[in-house]
Amino acid sequence: MISDGFIEELKLKSDIVDIASYYVNLKRQGKNLWGLCPFHAEKTPSFSVFPDSGSFYCFGCGAGGDVITFIERIENLDYIEAVKFLADKAGINMPQNDGKSEDLSNLRRRIFEANREAARFFHNTLYSEKGKEALKYLKIRGLTDNTIKKFGLGFAPNSRYELGNHLKSQGFKPYEIIQANLGVSKENKEPWSRFFDRVMFPIIDLRGNVVAFGGRTMLDIKPKYLNTSDTIIFKKSSNLFSLNFAKNESTEKLILVEGYMDVIALYQAGFKNTVATLGTALTPEQAKLMSRYAKEIIICYDSDLAGQKAAQRAIDLLRQTDVLIKVVTVPNGKDPDEFIRLHGSEGPTRFNLLLNSSNNDVEYILKKEALKYDIETTDGKIAYLKSSIKILSKLNNRLEQDIFAGKLSEKVGVDKSTIMMQLLKEHKKNKILEEKKEFLKIQQDLSAKRDFINKDKSKNLRAAVAEEALIAFIINNPDIANNIFLKLTPEKFCTDFNKRVYSCLFERKKANRPFSLIDLTLDFTKEEIAKIASFLAIESRRNSTIKAAYEYIDVILYESEKFSEVELNLADENKIREYMLKLKSIKNRGKFDNGYGSY
Ligand code: GTP
Ligand code: MN
Repeated sequence: MISDGFIEELKLKSDIVDIASYYVNLKRQGKNLWGLCPFHAEKTPSFSVFPDSGSFYCFGCGAGGDVITFIERIENLDYIEAVKFLADKAGINMPQNDGKSEDLSNLRRRIFEANREAARFFHNTLYSEKGKEALKYLKIRGLTDNTIKKFGLGFAPNSRYELGNHLKSQGFKPYEIIQANLGVSKENKEPWSRFFDRVMFPIIDLRGNVVAFGGRTMLDIKPKYLNTSDTIIFKKSSNLFSLNFAKNESTEKLILVEGYMDVIALYQAGFKNTVATLGTALTPEQAKLMSRYAKEIIICYDSDLAGQKAAQRAIDLLRQTDVLIKVVTVPNGKDPDEFIRLHGSEGPTRFNLLLNSSNNDVEYILKKEALKYDIETTDGKIAYLKSSIKILSKLNNRLEQDIFAGKLSEKVGVDKSTIMMQLLKEHKKNKILEEKKEFLKIQQDLSAKRDFINKDKSKNLRAAVAEEALIAFIINNPDIANNIFLKLTPEKFCTDFNKRVYSCLFERKKANRPFSLIDLTLDFTKEEIAKIASFLAIESRRNSTIKAAYEYIDVILYESEKFSEVELNLADENKIREYMLKLKSIKNRGKFDNGYGSY
């Protein structure tokens, strides 16, 4: 079990500023540090780190917590694994583990092991009698044994039980097989294998663990590809196929393609910095993830309509990050895999030429736009100009605008300065619209934050705000916490969650145990820690004094009495008089700024 002492040591050696700086470019502003949130795409920093309380909080997406929860989220680890990760980094020995908190961690470990064993089984089957056809299929698709080995490709035999039987013989339980989504539960029967009669593509995470599979049928049936559903170790939306290989390439470019086979064919042709989404459209998480490993991303999607639509979406998402975006269109309706094969031994050179001829995202969009109009006619020319100017006006780079205005001027034979003038007019219009939008967004954000604070305390907002401020104050000022505990017992708290937190602080103090945020990770879930981190984040703006803390206490006491008012029998005059006296005795001095203006 993890002890207070161990956490104390970890805390000393794992400074949240150091750790977070490794992933986020942080700038100091006063006591705290700010940067672009690693958990959602944004252009202005709303991610902050509070060295005093050892916490972080993103005012944009609400992610928050201590150094352990930070690692849990960014490295996609569970609690124990994150602690291990930090301990390793700090060179501290992990305490011996036992007990129930290990269950989830154990299950995760078993799922990793089951997946690894399944991958081995599929691969061996591919090279056995049963896999003959599948191996032939892969060879016909141009893959060498080396490539097949590198990607650990395999074959799931045409049986619902073989994988299950194999895994059982290796000590895996039906429950583990189902949790790994390798098997599907059949009431009271053996779990059925999810994959059968398919060529198998293992999906490997950044640490080299097999976390899922994609399986392709060789027949003409649907679905063509079947993927592992999300499990406790795998989230389709935040993984990229082959990023484990691509990230080790020294280039700072990533090629983004649609399919597994595209990645593999390109890899074999020497383009090892290629990744693909797992059969879904690109997600914001994946865009963010790529931007952590590349300065430039070359989108190389299929040239069919679906592919081009997906490319537009990818451009929009990647623009939220700071990568340079390029787009390549493979000619003649081919995908990259077909392109490479079509050109045989010249495939790699040809593909390289294609890459070098890539357009940046603006060029690409303008080119596509041009196809919509007949610019030989005056009407077509005007329409094309109008729509292109609209597109260019959205660029925030004056230089880029200038360059493209020049190109446009050449193409349609209109004076560049005229185009530029129109462009700037449109740009101004956009800016005003954007500002309006931003204003609305801030309004919405504020109301969302308010809702967030309100969530489970619609009953008594005033009390809850004071409670949260007080909790943050105590965590930040453990030395004077006792003064507060003497004045206020936990049952006075109005809000269930806050009451639990305060009780925990209260009990820890009594037992002489520490209670900084990282210590509380032993008592609360990741989501709960994020919530407490939000209290700390808001408190860091307020910076309450001890006097303010006493005011919070007054508010809480006052509100808790007021709250009992609801239950008060209005027919009982004596009780009401008693209640009034009580209220008077607790002077309500509690007017304080909650950091977001008054509600
Ligand atoms: P090949 O025919 O093997 O070359 O595949 P492809 O990559 O050319 O196929 P396609 O362009 O149709 O699909 C691109 C990617 O989308 C695939 O690699 C899969 O990840 C995914 N995909 C394709 N078909 C399906 C399907 O039926 N179900 C799911 N879940 N994903 C699919
Ligand atoms: Mn293909």
